[in-house]
Parts: sequence; structure tokens; C-alpha cells
Amino acid sequence: MSDTFVIKGLGGQKTLRGTVAITGAKNAALKVLAATVLFRDTVTLKNIPEINDVQQITELLRNMGAEISHPNTSEYKVSIPQNFSTELSPSIVKRLRASVVITGPTLARFGKVSFSSPGGCLIGARPIDLFIEGFKKMGAKVTFKNDSYSIVAPQGLRGAEFFLKNQSVTVTETFVFAGVLAQGITTIKNAAMEPEIVDLVDFLNKCGAKIFGAGTPTITITGGKLLSAKKHIYQTMPDRIDAGSFLILGALTAKKLRIIHCNPAHLESPIEALRSAGVSIETKKNEIIVRAPTKIKPLNIKTHEYPGFPTDLQAPMTVFLTQAEGESRVFETIFESRLNYTEALTGIGARFVVMDPHRVLVQGKTELCGKKIISPDLRAGLAFVIAAIVAKGESVIHNVNTTIDRGYEDIERRLKDIGVDIERRSEDEEIVCN
Ligand code: EPZ
Repeated sequence: MSDTFVIKGLGGQKTLRGTVAITGAKNAALKVLAATVLFRDTVTLKNIPEINDVQQITELLRNMGAEISHPNTSEYKVSIPQNFSTELSPSIVKRLRASVVITGPTLARFGKVSFSSPGGCLIGARPIDLFIEGFKKMGAKVTFKNDSYSIVAPQGLRGAEFFLKNQSVTVTETFVFAGVLAQGITTIKNAAMEPEIVDLVDFLNKCGAKIFGAGTPTITITGGKLLSAKKHIYQTMPDRIDAGSFLILGALTAKKLRIIHCNPAHLESPIEALRSAGVSIETKKNEIIVRAPTKIKPLNIKTHEYPGFPTDLQAPMTVFLTQAEGESRVFETIFESRLNYTEALTGIGARFVVMDPHRVLVQGKTELCGKKIISPDLRAGLAFVIAAIVAKGESVIHNVNTTIDRGYEDIERRLKDIGVDIERRSEDEEIVCN
């Protein structure tokens, strides 16, 4: 079974209004679930988004023996037993690349871990060389056979110093977690600075970790002891990509849209870009108010590690630029296949000149017309939803539950509440996207 969204577009009208609440951040929630392996007691996690990726990672942890309860919506309790398995389920690792973060705490605590190669995905090659090099530096032995890694460190991991050739988010998180239980000091240079890392580290430090420098390019961890969550509950930070996606939708279609339970300080780059395109945006501590302008000015976007423009908002922003009066440039610097979705947008009326795999010229303003379209991945999928809302006529977006539902909680209800005509239908088969 596969779900489809049927959306009746606004045909360029700017009538959406109301309030939308932002959920907990997917990319912090997945990692805090992995980090529960660092704890000797039960960890309570709140504001965890109800999305497919969270179901996948909890299933993976359960398969390994974790005791997980879900007493209320968005709340999980996780305990890791002594006989926790050190093998990650190959089918889940293939579907959910973020699951590779579990390798760091598992190896550090239990002295071994094995997992199948996560492989590439639609947005790019997604190598894991930095994980493997890092584990070796911390004293582990790595064997690769039949597409699977087996990593052992019978004496435990020891602290090490590394310089990451790419500022990778999941690599930084994996080695922060590994460093918490390694003997001695671990130093990560050219570390990623994403707010999700700061959010996780704040919690780990409250529970006994000694991690300094999160949010800067150098993170130092003094390791050695299991953590305790007896006195602290983790509360997931707001999802900046969920908030940014509604912000872009509002900038295209809203009379007045209030985005609440968000943190505008995490969205400085997209807010700055939208303002320079002529969008009216007011920010308060945990709230953003956006109104669509009558005319959108073209602009150039270049994705960058935080605090630069997030690659996860590149596709929605490109949809925005199809409505700008003139030529804009989009430069995707992080992933090599993250502009492939533009071909499908051409099919609904957008005009692009593909300069190379990383750069496109967006020729605005174009009228978008509703059509059948297959959602290729999570972020491009939501960009198609935004395009369908802007477009004239009816759009049908296929493969919602294997793409959009991975990362956006209750998306159709939240869109309906602000005036979008959207309906979910079930189909017999998933449509394969090449
Ligand atoms: C995280 O992916 C996010 N995923 C991604 O969000 C996000 O797009 C990305 O960071 C960039 O912000 C999660 O947090 C679960 P990277 P991650 O490792 O950590 C290279 C979404 O839609 N690299 O930071 O996997 C890599 O090729 C997802 O929510 C190596 O060279 O990405 C890329 O060029 C998609 N060797 C760069 O680092 C390695 O061993 C950054 O990737 C690992 C990565």
C-alpha cells in the first residue's frame, strides 16, 4: 500500500492564513534515541515527532534488545539492557542512514558492533569513510566482508584527535557519543555546528558527560563513564526544517501565517534570503509571522553547513524561486544528486537551466500547473507539496508514506488547518522512482 496526496492548488492566490505548530526536530530525535545506549538507566524523551523515521530507529533499537515504551504521544522511555545486541538490522540500516549513529555508542559501551553498508541514496553517494577512519583512530579493528562491517575494540575505545575532511553532522554526533565512553580525551576538529548537536550535547552534559565546544568547530570530550538520566528529561528542540518549509510556503501563499513553537534564531539564513526577495517576516522568540509579497525578487542561494543556508531547505526554496520575477541561481554544495528533482518540476511548468550536477538557473516567473508527480525523497517531496499548493488545478503526489511521512508529522492536518485543500488517498502499489 502507498499513500497519495491530492491537492487542489491556489493558482497563485495568497489566501492561506492561520497558525501552524512546529514539531520536535527529526534530526535531533533520531540521534537522542541512538544516544540512549550511553545511559545506565531509563531515559525519558519528550517532544519526539511522530514520524516514520522515528518508528524505524525505535524498531532497530528494539531489535537489538532495548526496552522502549511510548506512554504518551511524542514521549518515549528507553532502557538499554546488559545483553543488548551489537548487530544492527541490515534492512533498517539500508532504509535509514541515520541509524549508523548507533554504532558509536554501541562500540564504545559493548566493545563491538556490526552493521551492513548503508549505501548511497537518491540525494548522493553518502560515504561512511569518516566513521571507519575515526573508529580505527580510537583503537578499534575493522573488518569488511560481504557488504558488512564488523568492528571490535575488546579493551574499549581510547580518546583520539581527528580533523573531519567534511563537516559531517552524523560523523560529529557519532564521535561525540563514542568519546563519552572512551578512555581519555577525544577532540573533533572541523566539527559540524548544527543546532541539533548543541541540543544533544546540552542534554548529555546535564546527565554527566563532559563535552565542550558544541556549536563551534572544535569539540572536546573527556570520556569514561556511563551517563544517568535520573534527574533529567530530554525535550527535543523545534524542527528548523519543518519551520523553514512552512515559512517558504507562507512566503508564497499566505495572507498571514503564524508559525509557532519554533526557534527563529536557527533560521537566520533562510529568513535573510526571503527578506531580500521582498517577503515580510516578523520574528519573536518562538514564533514567526510571514506574509506573501505581491512580487518576489530573484536571488542566488548557495547551501552551506550551519549557519549557512540548509541543504534540507534547498528544494522548497527552489520552488519559491520559480515564482520570482527574473533569474535566480541555486548552488547545492553538500550533496551531488540533490537537484535531480528539478526535472519533475519542469513537468509542471517550472523552467530551469541545469549548469552542472550542483547548479541550476531558475527562470522565473512561471505558472505551475497541477499534474501527477512522484515524490522522490523526503525534502523534495515536501517541495512538491508546496509547488502543488501554488499551482493551478489538481496535483496528485505519489509515494507519500515512503518519503514525506518519514519526516513531517501529521502534515495534511497542519496544511488543512491553514486553508490548503489536501486529501490523503491509499493506493495499491508504490510507484518506483528512477
Ligand atoms: C545530516 O546528514 C542530516 N541527516 C541530513 O538531513 C542533512 O541533509 C545533512 O546532515 C547536512 O545538513 C541527519 O541528521 C540524520 P553529512 P549526514 O554526513 O550527517 C560527507 C534530511 O533530509 N561525508 O553531514 O548524513 C557527505 O558525503 C537529511 O533530514 C563524507 O565524506 O550528512 C557530504 O558531502 C538528509 N564521509 C558531507 O559529508 C563520511 O563518512 C555532509 O554529509 C560522511 C559524510
